[in-house]
Amino acid sequence: MTARPEIRFLLNDEPVCLGGIRAADTLLDYIRLGQRLTGTKEGCAEGDCGACTVLIGRLRGGTLHYEPVNACIRFLASVDLCHVVTIEHLRGTERGGLHPVQQAMVDFHGSQCGFCTPGFVMALYALWMQTPAPTEAQIETALQGNLCRCTGYAPIVRAAQAAARTGNPAGDYLMTERARVTGLLAGFGAGERVELRDGDDLAILPADVDDLAAALSEYPQATLVAGATDVGLWVTKFLRPISPAIFTGHLDELKAIDTGGDPIRIGAGASYTDFEAVIADGFPHLSEFWDRIAGWQVRNMGTVGGNIANGSPIGDTPPVLIALGARIVLRRGGDRRTLMLEDFFIDYGKQDRAAGEFVEQIILPRTAPNSLHAAYKISKRRDEDISSVSAGFNITVEGGTITGARIAFGGMAATPKRAARAEAALTGKPWSEATMLAAAATLGQDFTPLTDWRASAEYRLLVAQNLFRRFWLEHSTPAVPVRLTREAQHG
Ligand SMILES: Cc1cc2nc3c(=O)[nH]c(=O)nc-3n(C[C@H](O)[C@H](O)[C@H](O)COP(=O)(O)OP(=O)(O)OC[C@H]3O[C@@H](n4cnc5c(N)ncnc54)[C@H](O)[C@@H]3O)c2cc1C
Ligand code: FES
Ligand code: FES
Repeated sequence: MTARPEIRFLLNDEPVCLGGIRAADTLLDYIRLGQRLTGTKEGCAEGDCGACTVLIGRLRGGTLHYEPVNACIRFLASVDLCHVVTIEHLRGTERGGLHPVQQAMVDFHGSQCGFCTPGFVMALYALWMQTPAPTEAQIETALQGNLCRCTGYAPIVRAAQAAARTGNPAGDYLMTERARVTGLLAGFGAGERVELRDGDDLAILPADVDDLAAALSEYPQATLVAGATDVGLWVTKFLRPISPAIFTGHLDELKAIDTGGDPIRIGAGASYTDFEAVIADGFPHLSEFWDRIAGWQVRNMGTVGGNIANGSPIGDTPPVLIALGARIVLRRGGDRRTLMLEDFFIDYGKQDRAAGEFVEQIILPRTAPNSLHAAYKISKRRDEDISSVSAGFNITVEGGTITGARIAFGGMAATPKRAARAEAALTGKPWSEATMLAAAATLGQDFTPLTDWRASAEYRLLVAQNLFRRFWLEHSTPAVPVRLTREAQHG
């Protein structure tokens, strides 16, 4: 197969054809240093502050979707066949006028030093197009990934509410230009391998999932790059080389989610945002938990497969997926094997994954009747924070007796891990507070948590035990609220 030696994309209104780029080149450097489009800012260079927010438009199943992402940790190679929209592209209906979102930020004093403002405007622009009349809770969710050190958030939230009154997304430039942009992106090509070389540096964008398997067999030590919300930081914070790199973020086949049966099948490349379709289809207990993962931009980029494959003991999705009985499919070349998710994690930094193998799919059984579920995240901040402890509970109760229990924790051991003794202490016992507390008391035998800057070992153990009590309260007296949700905060 002949590989295409350059990426093709649309930067605002400019079609771009670019070869000779390096795997670790970031989109932000290209925009700011290469193109001198300096409206997009660099704040943290690690996906936290949102100052670098741009929109990425991509064809999925022939339909053009835009989403806000962090350009600082997005690799340039990964924008092949995309429309990159920077703050410079925004325009009002009047020539030279401000866009309604920008005008609202002015009118409602949403900007002071202005450093964060382009990033806020881009996130609000994306929200305004998706949800023209958002609730306050929706605005807060959309702005989780944007930090402002001077203004305070209330004027920005008021600006977001006002944007709905001052403009109409249907007449917006990106909407009216959809057909033209769709045609341009489709014309750039698809379904072919891209190989970008600069000296010894190599970045591969496989043509499809079979080609991904082939590329990884050819370069078994290559860095796989999915959403780059981990790998991006290896580059921007640790200056680690990543070549040869194999990118997967463009592979729709690897993002496919099949909720048509039982079990549900989720492509490893599905982003956190894509996964919301699964939550809506029978896992409501994950909804609030999901909203606590990162911010909007990172949720659009980061993948569930990446969150599993990185083997982190504090990744949020493994404990809740383990509790639900998830399995994963690993593929090397044409060979596939399936294992229970908990068995993938061997030790700190060590997973059951051979060179040349990749996570292809997550298999999630639907929940059993009579089963009770919860997902908990304990962190210092509500938004944009990594868990000190996270947990997934899945307990089946039949006729007042606990007949099955799967409970897993993150942040309590070197890997995400099941609470084996607590599960045994629950099974066959009456569904009661006393049973839950007795099971909680066994946690110290299963886990010896660490003390680090996020939490002490004592805190971790205590909070994990308290989650058993919380689980009991939530399920035995569901009418009594025990959580302060974003919606509850806003009435
Ligand atoms: C600002 C910010 C906030 C964050 N907040 C949270 C949070 O609240 N909770 C949380 O859990 N995480 C959080 N993260 C971490 C990150 O979002 C996740 O770990 C993410 O899911 C990784 O997925 P990715 O697609 O971005 O992976 P990448 O960065 O592309 O890759 C991560 C690792 O997985 C490997 N990999 C990727 N896909 C595959 C595959 N299919 N098969 C085999 N290996 C693969 C890569 O080679 C690499 O080793 C945050 C990150 C940032 C930057
Ligand atoms: S510069 Fe802070 S998120 Fe990118
Ligand atoms: S206006 Fe200064 S950081 Fe937001």
